Amino acid sequence: MMDYTDRHARYLWRLISRHTLLYTEMITSAALLHGDVSRLLAHHPDERPVALQLGGSDPRTMAEAARLGVEFAYDEINVNVGCPSDRVRSGRFGACLMAEPKTVADCVEAIRRAVDVPVTVKTRLGIDHHDSYDFLRQFIATVQAGGGEVFIVHARKAWLQGLSPKENREIPPLDYEQVYRLKKDFPELEISVNGGIRSLNEAMRHLQHVDGVMIGRAVFDNPWMLAEADRKIFGGDSESPERSDVVSIYTEYCRREMEQGVRMTELIRPLMGLAYGLPGARRFRHDLSQQARRPDASPVRIVRAWEALEANITGGGSYKVFETDESGAG
Ligand SMILES: Cc1cc2nc3c(=O)[nH]c(=O)nc-3n(C[C@H](O)[C@H](O)[C@H](O)COP(=O)(O)O)c2cc1C
Repeated sequence: MMDYTDRHARYLWRLISRHTLLYTEMITSAALLHGDVSRLLAHHPDERPVALQLGGSDPRTMAEAARLGVEFAYDEINVNVGCPSDRVRSGRFGACLMAEPKTVADCVEAIRRAVDVPVTVKTRLGIDHHDSYDFLRQFIATVQAGGGEVFIVHARKAWLQGLSPKENREIPPLDYEQVYRLKKDFPELEISVNGGIRSLNEAMRHLQHVDGVMIGRAVFDNPWMLAEADRKIFGGDSESPERSDVVSIYTEYCRREMEQGVRMTELIRPLMGLAYGLPGARRFRHDLSQQARRPDASPVRIVRAWEALEANITGGGSYKVFETDESGAG
């Protein structure tokens, strides 16, 4: 998710779940070929497994970009055929490519030749008035002929004219049945469903019909929902982590990142949902943003904000505890 699933967010989420597959924001193949590759593809080895999502429609450029992704140790290359924004459309990639299944197939084929990691496609149910099940089935069949074996389907179509990207994530209705039907018609393919899934219990219900579930906004809003994923979804027997341990490790990560010049305001964004549902969550967010904006911002204040939240919970909600360390030693 653009501006959300950056490397800091992924680092945090990986502390919460070991086995969930994480995705980068979409990066265009052109940006990778002409831009600052090291900055665009930088990630911490502990984030893995991570899929790199590419936007583009030129098979050669996409293959080249995928090669760079694998050089930077990404575990999967995902092709974006779902983004409806104008900017993306004028660059001829994203959801508008549903109207050009052969182009998508050619990209998948070229990428598969170039790299030896899985190549997957994220798509929609349809675009504009191309919204019949037959249209979707034909799209999938064509991309399958180019070697596509794994599809993640955002279970709503995109309106390319007249709706903003935000509206395009809310207005066209969700239709999970079409994704389930795809799995029945293409049992040999790996089909995952995406869109509007807010809990692991919901995810488990979808898993009775499809192979995987992708969750976007709900994880950003409430990253702790991943805490049970390893056990519930992947069948492991590991204990869920403690939130306070996650906060300490992430704070240490922030300290290292800040030494490299990363601003604390950037680093605290993924933490904003960590207290989701707990008493004092609002105050926690407020404390974090206040602290991050200070000229002497220090990552230790993340731990302090967390301790204040915990003290608030054990102290019955009085929330007086957070004190700013004026000495700057924090
Ligand atoms: C702010 C924002 C940015 C997004 N950026 C991307 C993106 O870069 N690539 C992509 O495939 N989908 C992107 N999406 C769409 C999500 O991946 C997902 O398909 C959509 O939000 C529906 O799933 P959800 O209800 O679980 O969030 C974005 C969504 C949001 C809210």
